[in-house]
Amino acid sequence: MHDEPGLPGGDDLLDLDGEVLAARWAEALDRVAALAAEPVGSRATSHARVVDLGAGTGTGAIGLAVRLPDAEVVAVDVAEQSLARVAAKAQAAGVADRVRTLVADLDDGWPDLAPVDLTWASMSLHHLADPVRSLAELRAITSPRGLVAVSEFDEPVRFLPDDLGIGRPGFEDRAVAALGSVHAEAVPHIGAPWATLLTEAGWTVVDQHEVVIDERSPGHPLAGRYARAWFDRLAHGLEGRLDADDEQTLAALLDDDGPHALLRRDDLHLHGIRTLTVARA
Ligand SMILES: C[S@@+](CC[C@H](N)C(=O)[O-])C[C@H]1O[C@@H](n2cnc3c(N)ncnc32)[C@H](O)[C@@H]1O
Repeated sequence: MHDEPGLPGGDDLLDLDGEVLAARWAEALDRVAALAAEPVGSRATSHARVVDLGAGTGTGAIGLAVRLPDAEVVAVDVAEQSLARVAAKAQAAGVADRVRTLVADLDDGWPDLAPVDLTWASMSLHHLADPVRSLAELRAITSPRGLVAVSEFDEPVRFLPDDLGIGRPGFEDRAVAALGSVHAEAVPHIGAPWATLLTEAGWTVVDQHEVVIDERSPGHPLAGRYARAWFDRLAHGLEGRLDADDEQTLAALLDDDGPHALLRRDDLHLHGIRTLTVARA
């Protein structure tokens, strides 16, 4: 289920997410790397095989390769063009000898990657047709006491104040509500209770942590570009679902030369929560 109308997933958007929220990613990846570095049976996990499930452009894969200097990292994704960015980033980070990419549709079952010691799954499990089945299959190829770390969100991140100086107040609330109805039809596992699903799939949850996103513009130089990439994607996903007034507001936000352009605003507030759930096989 990788057709994802209205969802983040464009490669530029993923890269901007990785850059603008670098400190939040570091918080989550440090936590997972610390858990993974604890001795697991006879294998030291730092020498282990790490999988990035639905790696996208590789923020997780590269972050874990850097943090676990002896690990081999396999970035798995159905989208070949995203994995090309992972390979380029691995070169740039000096970890290309330990990071490889693998094109696979996980809805067709897991490639033979056993034994896996650590899997990182960020914003990807909700795209799968049957996440519990995929998590159970993953557990079967995971080494005894190996880990899976799931980073997911209940709601999309928010960027805008209530009053934008254009259109009716509450534009973003209405856009997010419209997106929710698109998701309910197309991506039903968004906001699933991941700890419960992991348990159903046979895993034992060992850690849960809320990564709180709270960045105010103009704090980060790319925040406006990130907001623009997000609303551009939203505009495609919501086609025909907003009323005429909100359509106009959205167009004004995306008009880079106009007075309300996202790229020029100094009132952006990027906020939301991603929940990190770590489980043992
Ligand atoms: C929202 S992106 C997240 C990417 C990355 N993990 C991150 O956090 O930046 C979801 C990723 O899951 C991948 N994906 C969706 N369905 C998939 C499937 N059936 N098999 C493999 N990858 C899939 C998409 O191609 C996309 O790269």
